[in-house]
Amino acid sequence: MEMTQQPVSADVVCIASWNVDLVSRIPRPLARGETLLASGFDMGPGGKGSNAAIACARQGARVALVARIGDDDFGRMGLALWAGEGIAAQLVRIAPGERSGVAQILIYPDGDNSIAVAPGASAGLDARQVQSGAATIAAARVVMASCEVPLEATLAAFRLARAHGVRTLLNPAPASPLPDELLALTDVLTPNETELLALAGPEHATADEAAGELLRRGVGAVIATLGSAGCRLWRAGGAGHAVPGWRMEAVVDTVGAGDTFTGSLAAALARGEALEAAMACANAAAALSVTGRGAIGGMPSLQRTRELLGTRREG
Ligand code: RIB
Repeated sequence: MEMTQQPVSADVVCIASWNVDLVSRIPRPLARGETLLASGFDMGPGGKGSNAAIACARQGARVALVARIGDDDFGRMGLALWAGEGIAAQLVRIAPGERSGVAQILIYPDGDNSIAVAPGASAGLDARQVQSGAATIAAARVVMASCEVPLEATLAAFRLARAHGVRTLLNPAPASPLPDELLALTDVLTPNETELLALAGPEHATADEAAGELLRRGVGAVIATLGSAGCRLWRAGGAGHAVPGWRMEAVVDTVGAGDTFTGSLAAALARGEALEAAMACANAAAALSVTGRGAIGGMPSLQRTRELLGTRREG
């Protein structure tokens, strides 16, 4: 039985998936049944939850993880990574006899990608484990999650957060149907355009209609990430807002850009920034993230992000 633990001091708690990314660069998308030779291979840290937590920590927030990892070298790799990034891992559990999550990633010449995730131990993250971090969640400013962990864990975390006035942030990736209770417990939802339309359902054909539907179902604010076109905000009872994208030279790959956006947004909200300013910061951090290799290679510091933002203010 999981015991409620002493609170860990954290601005942001991430209910997190952990994967090791196996990344191959191929000249074009594969056809079914086809084998292609890759021009390069990398192995590195991944998982939408861990990635967002790292982005958030690099933006200066104190971050705690609630995660479940395998009893294997990949799991130990996660523990070493989080220690190096200054992320609190007291609420991470090692699952005896289980493997850590793995993501097989194919990167195309323009930096875009396709990903297949085998969640491994992350699939066993449950409400009881989240409950063991209740005191940490209650004392935080933001709780964030993605759809790479079981919904029951996210629901448990968001119920605790709502009961204690802690802001909730959900990256609905990979896209999957979400129960109305979870939507109503979500203060800020950060889909990309495809996820936005998928979440709202086929009867809502445009981004405006889809965002309106999600607000009607109880989401506090929807921020759609639009890749190089920036991001757009819709919120209940408030004006919309758009932030233009950045034209980045030398795009290496876009793996982890959405996670960087969500983690950086969480950090900005935890510092007390308004949604519009937080979006601008997250948008700039995500733009910088595509200039480095793999999920976390390009994730910037807060200083680097502010330098980029400064060039737009000056320009
Ligand atoms: O968003 C990118 C991440 O998705 C990768 O790091 C991979 O692990 C998958 O979870």
